[in-house]
Amino acid sequence: MDKFIINGGKRISGSVEVSGAKNASLALMPATLLAPGKSSLINTPRLNDVYTMIKLLTHLGAEIEFNDHTLKIDTSNITDLTAPYEHVKKMRASVYVLGPLLARYGRAKVSLPGGCAWGPRPINLHLEALEKMGAEINLIDGYIEAKAEKLKGAEIYFDVSSVGATGNILMASVLAEGTTIINNASIEPEITNLAEFLINMGAKIEGIRTKTLVIEGVDALSPSDTGTIPDRIEAGTLLIAAAVTKGNIVLENIDSGLLRAVVLKLESAGCKVNVLGNQIMLDASDMNLTPTDVSTSIFPGFPTDMQAQWTALMTLANGTSSIKDTIYYDRFKHVPELVRLGADINVVENTAVVKGVKCLKGAKVMSTDLRASASLVLAGLAAEGTTEVLRVYHLDRGYQRIEEKLQLLGAEIKRVSGKEY
Ligand code: EPU
Repeated sequence: MDKFIINGGKRISGSVEVSGAKNASLALMPATLLAPGKSSLINTPRLNDVYTMIKLLTHLGAEIEFNDHTLKIDTSNITDLTAPYEHVKKMRASVYVLGPLLARYGRAKVSLPGGCAWGPRPINLHLEALEKMGAEINLIDGYIEAKAEKLKGAEIYFDVSSVGATGNILMASVLAEGTTIINNASIEPEITNLAEFLINMGAKIEGIRTKTLVIEGVDALSPSDTGTIPDRIEAGTLLIAAAVTKGNIVLENIDSGLLRAVVLKLESAGCKVNVLGNQIMLDASDMNLTPTDVSTSIFPGFPTDMQAQWTALMTLANGTSSIKDTIYYDRFKHVPELVRLGADINVVENTAVVKGVKCLKGAKVMSTDLRASASLVLAGLAAEGTTEVLRVYHLDRGYQRIEEKLQLLGAEIKRVSGKEY
C-alpha cells in the first residue's frame, strides 16, 4: 500500500489536462456487453476502478486491449454470466453488468455489493425495476440471481433519482421487448454519455438530458465507438487544489457546463474564474476565502462527490460555513482526519459545520474512501509542514495519478510504496 508525503504551503500554478470521467467509463464499459463484437472507448482514464472493470469483463469472456487511453472491448465470446464477489466487493459499480447480461443472455448472477465505507448504498431500485420488466430475481448465498427469457418494456418510476439504477435499467431496456419509460431518471452527464453510446450502438432512446427517458427496445445492437466525457470531479478537485493554496490553474479539456455549481461556489468563495472554450481558469492568488455554504444534490446541483473536497477548502475560510450532504447522509469520514490537521469541524446529522482556522498543520492522516482521500490531499497541500496521507489506494481507484498532475503544478507531493501504509 502506498502513501503520499506532502510538503504543504506551495502554491498550485500552471495548466493541466483533465482525464476522462471514471463514472462514465464504469457505465460505458459494461454497455459493450450488449452487442457482440469490438467497441472502442476513447479517453478512458487509467485508474484502478477501470482496471477492476477490465478484470470483471475479462472474467466474463471479453477480450480487452488498453492502449494509451483507448479501450477496445471485444464481447464476441462471453462465456460466463457471473460477477463474482471478489470483483464486486472491490467496486460497487460492478453491479452495472446485471442489466446488460440479463438483456442479452436472459440470465445473470451478480454478487450483492454489501455496505460501503460511509454507510448503506442499496440497489433495491435496480432490482425492483428489473422485476417490473419481467425478470425473476432471487437472492441466494449473497448473490443476485436474475433470469428473464426476454425482458419486457415497462413504466418505471424511481423514488430517488439514482445514477446506477438509471444506467442499469437503460442498458436492460434497449434490448427489451416494447417500450420502457424511466421516470425520475438521473440526468447526470455520465448517464447522458452512456445513452449517447447506446444510440451509437443502434438503441432507440428519447428524452436524453431530461428526467423522463423513453426507450423503444430493438432486436439487436452493433458494437460502436465513443468518447468518454471529461471527469468533472477530477476537474473540481484540481480547481480546489488551486483555491486552497491561493494559486492559479488552467484546466484543459473540460466543459464548464459539467461543473457549473462548483465553479459558481468557487466564485462565491472569492476565486476569480474565467471560462474560455474548453478551458477553465481559476485565480485565487489574492483571494480572501469567504465562507460559502453548500448543499449537495443531483445534477446540475453541487455533487456529493465534491463535498469532502469543499469541506477541506472551507477549513481555511474566514468564518463559518455549513456543508450538507443530501445524497449520502453519512459521508463524513474525512472529518476526523481533517480535524487531525487542525480543522474545526462539527458534524450534526448530515451537515458539517466548519469554522475556518488560520492555518492547518501537517500530520499523518488515513484515507477511508476515494473522495475523503482527495480532501486530505487538498488539506495537506495547504497545511504547514509535512502531511502523510496513508492508504492512497482509495485515491488510486478514482484519480489517474493525481500526484503527477499536482507535481506538474508545483506541489511537493511524492508517492512512497510500502507494505504498512
Ligand atoms: N439509492 C437507493 N436505492 C437504489 C440506488 C440508490 O435508495 O437502488 C439511493 C442511494 O442510497 C443514494 C441515492 O439513491 O442516496 C443516489 O445514489 P446513486 O444510485 O445515484 O449512486 P450510485 O449510482 O451508486 C454514483 C457514483 C457515485 C456518486 C453517486 C451520486 C458511479 C460508479 N458512482 O453512484 O460516485 O457518489 O452516483 O452521484 O457512477 C465516487 O465517484 O466517488 C462515487 C461514489
